[in-house]
Order: sequence, then structure tokens, then C-alpha cells
Amino acid sequence: MTQTQPTDHIDNMLHETRVIEPPADFVARARVSREEYDRRYRQSLDDPDAFWTGVASELTWTQPWSQVLDWQEPHARWFVGGQTNLAYNALDRNVERGLGNKRAFIWEGEDGEVRTYTYAELLGEVKRAANALLDLGVTVGDRVTLYLPLVPEAAIAMLACARIGAVHSVVFGGFSVSALSDRINDASSKLLITADAGQRRGGLVNLKANADEAAKSTPTLEHILVVCRAGCDVEMQPDRDVWWHEALAGAGEEHEAAALDSEHPLFVLYTSGSTGKPKGVLHTTGGYMVGTYLTTGTVFDLREDDIFWCTADVGWITGHSYSVYGPLLNGATTVLYEGAPNHPDWGRFWEVVQKHRVTILYTAPTAIRSFMRQGDAIPAQYDLSSLRLLGSVGEPINPEAWMWYARVIGGGRCPVVDTWWQTETGSIMLTTLPGAHASKPGSAGLPMFGIELAIMTHDGQELGPDDGGLLVIKRPWPSMLRTVYGDDERYRKTYWGEIPHVYFAGDGARRDADGYVTVVGRVDDVLNVSGHRLGTMEIESALVAHPSVAEAAVVGRPDEVKGECVVAFVLPQGGQTVEPHELRAYVTREIGALARPDAIIIADALPKTRSGKIMRRFLRQIAAGQPIQGDTSTLEDPSVLERLAETPAV
Ligand code: WTA
Repeated sequence: MTQTQPTDHIDNMLHETRVIEPPADFVARARVSREEYDRRYRQSLDDPDAFWTGVASELTWTQPWSQVLDWQEPHARWFVGGQTNLAYNALDRNVERGLGNKRAFIWEGEDGEVRTYTYAELLGEVKRAANALLDLGVTVGDRVTLYLPLVPEAAIAMLACARIGAVHSVVFGGFSVSALSDRINDASSKLLITADAGQRRGGLVNLKANADEAAKSTPTLEHILVVCRAGCDVEMQPDRDVWWHEALAGAGEEHEAAALDSEHPLFVLYTSGSTGKPKGVLHTTGGYMVGTYLTTGTVFDLREDDIFWCTADVGWITGHSYSVYGPLLNGATTVLYEGAPNHPDWGRFWEVVQKHRVTILYTAPTAIRSFMRQGDAIPAQYDLSSLRLLGSVGEPINPEAWMWYARVIGGGRCPVVDTWWQTETGSIMLTTLPGAHASKPGSAGLPMFGIELAIMTHDGQELGPDDGGLLVIKRPWPSMLRTVYGDDERYRKTYWGEIPHVYFAGDGARRDADGYVTVVGRVDDVLNVSGHRLGTMEIESALVAHPSVAEAAVVGRPDEVKGECVVAFVLPQGGQTVEPHELRAYVTREIGALARPDAIIIADALPKTRSGKIMRRFLRQIAAGQPIQGDTSTLEDPSVLERLAETPAV
């Protein structure tokens, strides 16, 4: 698996020593205080049965569980024998406790259209959708693939599946035809739910045309349900294709949520692994429900009048857990925004915050850095005073971006939570709690309740404070993946076979004396330079701290003398010139001479997936002067690769 084993350590390479205390008024009102965190964390490890029974009992179960956890490594069953329904808990339960008229979703289209759904309205739609699915022959356990823009129907379809016990597999609307057909085939889906088209940066993404193309090689598909989003002309194949609005109009209004076993499969979500074939991460009902319910409430200090906006698309785990399931389970009001952050301009996010009076914003470092690059003047044009808490997720956040986010977007009054987790973990694993803990920019923080972490060497030795190693989780937790769909062997090997008896996250990390964990990045992105391990992120962090640099990506290149050397792809800050010798000196100063880039490539763009992740695999090939190999279809703009390959290093 990993070429390098980051078992060596380099002391605190970032020299990041800032500690930012949460604002006093936030602390005074916080849902979880420092003492409360300590007490509950201790209980969650010392008496996990009592702890998880307490949390799960806040939700409704039609049959109680007889055992909290059955652990037959590496297979966990949580709330054994219990029966529940996630959609019931997300909707009916909230209507029953008097939240029927509260807004569940505020949806804004890229074109500015706004639709809102109260809990009662959303429940009504989900019941109809559940009946429509049943009418199309979908039954409990069947797989349903969703290939949709971020429209309310995407969440409604997910909830309808959960309601009848069908297993959803959401494929991000930006994926290609072949990615879609591979995922439909891997899951043997019976039904595909798509839209005529999605809207992106003013243009149309022809989802139905892609779906038609994919359906040529997906023998298990029986029907395609089509949401009319753009109102454009599409070909409807008789007997196979059905309009969503017609199916719902003809469906019954009443539907009682199915009582499902706690371990009933809830969804499959495909994610990239170390091999080319994506893994279908399988989550089940009870544990995932409990994990997302608990973390949304506590990490985001959620209260009655919050307007919560997680900017992720529902095609990713963050959208599943924190745009749909977690907030609804807590009876919160959630914003869903369909479009791009820079359409029609870079003020769009701030306009959404201002218009809907968003109180909690949860977004990704890549977005934050893009905004930062555009300067402070743009957010300054908007009223962001409604915000009280900010969150970050998806990749390590460099301290400079953290500080900018807190200062310019948070106005210096909002705590920032940097949450580490994965598609596989289902819910947040590492974070600070906003009213309980000080923040250390760049460090995600402390484990969530029930999460027992360690930093280990590859041969399973636990490391002490400040030693860099592999991030592992030492015991099962409710929202963990149960298997890789259709490939349990891969599940065993990837997650529980790398280091005996622990969950291997695939990330490198270190923990300081206060217990704060800094996740430095995937171990396959860890470089070994002259026998020293370096997180590419740490070098990137140093580079982007330089005023002339907007974004940077660092990869390793095989080197005869050093083993590996550092190649930096650097995107200049608007209008600035990058001086390579100055950057080298800067990195040497920030980290040490060992991290000094051997080659710097000044880029006009970096190869990013549509979700904003930099595809370092391609950068490594370019850095090594190799031809580009592998699937470039997940890139937002594959032409970036050619330009980079032609750019001489300096
Ligand atoms: C990275 C997204 C540092 C990490 C929820 C992990 C992070 C991978 C953070 C999972 C963070 C996510 N700090 N790194 N706060 N959050 N990561 O499955 O490498 O899309 O393994 O889940 O993102 O990405 P995934």
C-alpha cells in the first residue's frame, strides 16, 4: 500500500503556536462546556453501553435493542435487534413534537429561485415519493441510484428510500457516464433517479442524456425517474422512463415508515481508494442515525433558531450527513444551495448567508482559499452578522486560511471548528467543540464522544506526543462503515488489515501534549525526503502563507540522492509575481531546508476534482516527467494537465 511509512517524526514543522480561545459569550451559552465534554467523553469510553443507550434513546425506535454492540472484528452490529426508521426520526418525529410548521429546508437554485419546505410539507413529499418508489416496484433492500443536481428532490428521494428500506447510492451529478454506469452496475440498482438537466455556472448539465447513455450498459435498471429541473426537452423512453412529478401526483398520500432492523443497509456511497476502482462504502440504519444526530447537535452547538448551511453537495458524505440526515434528525433548518460559489460572482456565498440569515456555515478549505484569493473586499460588501459559528471539512486547513476565515467571514466573533472525518466514518470523529475548547489553527482537535484514537507506527506501536504517525481508531463506533459493498475482503484488508485490531484511516497525523490531533494528509501524500517524512500539506501550508501564493500543491519526485524530493505547483495570488528563490528561502525558514522545493512549477490552475480535491496523482506524474496515466474524467478541467506538463519548472 503506502510507499512510505511515516514513522519518523519531524518536530512541529509548522511552528504553529497560536491558541485561540472561544469567545466568552459563546462559552456562556454553549450546549457542551469543557467539563461536560470531559465527563461525557470519559463516560463514552468507560461505559460505552450507557453512553450510547443515552444518545440512541433520544430517538424513536419501534423495537428496543437487546445489545448495544456486537463486535466480531472487523464486523460491528450496533443496537442489535432494535428496529427504527431514519426518515421517521428525521420527519414524523419532528412533526409530532410540534415542529410541523418549522422550515426544514430553504433551497436556493443557482438562478436565484427559492423554495422552502416545512417539516410537515417535507414529510408529505417524502410519503408520496415513498409510495411512488413502491409503485415502480422498488422494495426493501433494493438499490436506487441517484444522479441529481442539488435540488430538494435529491434529499426527498434519499429520505423516501430510507423510509421504505431501499438502499440509496448517490452519484455526484458532476460524474461522467462511465462513472455512473460503473456505480449502477456495482450496486445492481433497479431504479435510477435523475433530472432533465442541472444548472452549473449558468449552463446546463445534461444529466438525462448521460443517464440514457449509462443505461445502455446497466442491465439491472428497470426504470428511470426524471425530475423536471431545467424544463428542457429530453427523450423519455416509454415503459422505462417516468417523470418524477407525474409519479408523485399519482402516488398515495399516506405512508407508514417501515420498521427496519438497526443494521438494515441505509446507503452505499462510492469513494476513491488507493486502487483505481471506487469503493462502495456501506452504512446502515441505526448507528449512522445515532452518529449523525449526536455530532450535528453537539459539534455545531445547534439550537432552535439556527439556520444551518453545509455547502456540500449531496453527492458527497458531507452532504449526506450534514445537509440532510444530521440536521433533520435535530429538527434544524437547513439551507441547500444548488450552484457554484462563484456564480454569478465570488460574492454568491455571502449573498446566500445574508439573504437567509445563516447562523452556522460549514464549508471546505479549498473554498475558503479561493475566497481568500479574491480578497477581503468582496465579503465586506455583505451583511454576515447573522453568522455565529463556522466549520471546515474535507482536507487539512492551513493556518493562514483558518485565520482568514475566522477574521473576515467570522468577523472575529465566530469560533471555527475544523472537523476531521471520512466517508467511511459516517460522522465527525475529530473536532473541537465550539464553546468548550480553544482552537489551534491547523489542528482539528480532540476526539468526539466514543472515539478512541491513537497515532501509530505501521507495525502497531503507539506513538507519544508530537510524533508523526498513522491515525487509527481503536474501537468500533456506531456510524462506521460496515463493509465495502460486494467486497468484504477489501473492507477487511483496507481498514482492519493494515494494522492489527485497529481501524486504519489512511491519514498521517500527530497529537500534541494537550491531545490535539493535527491531520497532515493521506499517507500516500506523505513524502520521504532524505529519510525525513514530510506532509505535503505542511509544505503547502508554508507556501500559501507567502503573500505571493494563492494555492499550492506539493508532490514527491523520486530522487537518487534523497529518495524523494519536493516539487511544488504554485498558483500566484492575483496580480503577483512569484519569485522562486524567495519561496525556497521562505519554506526553508518556515519548516527547514529539507522541505525546500527542488522544483517549482508556476501554474495558472491545479487539477481538481469537481468536489475541489487536488488530484496529486497526476501532479506526481507531471513532476516525474511521465505521461499522464489514469482516469482524468473526474477532473473539473482536464486541460489543466497539458498546460502544467508544458510548463518548465523553475
Ligand atoms: C481528509 C470527507 C484534515 C482526510 C468528510 C480524510 C481532512 C479524507 C479533514 C476523507 C480535516 C477530511 N483535516 N483532513 N478536517 N477532513 N480530511 O471521505 O485525508 O471525502 O481521510 O470525507 O479527507 O475524505 P472524504
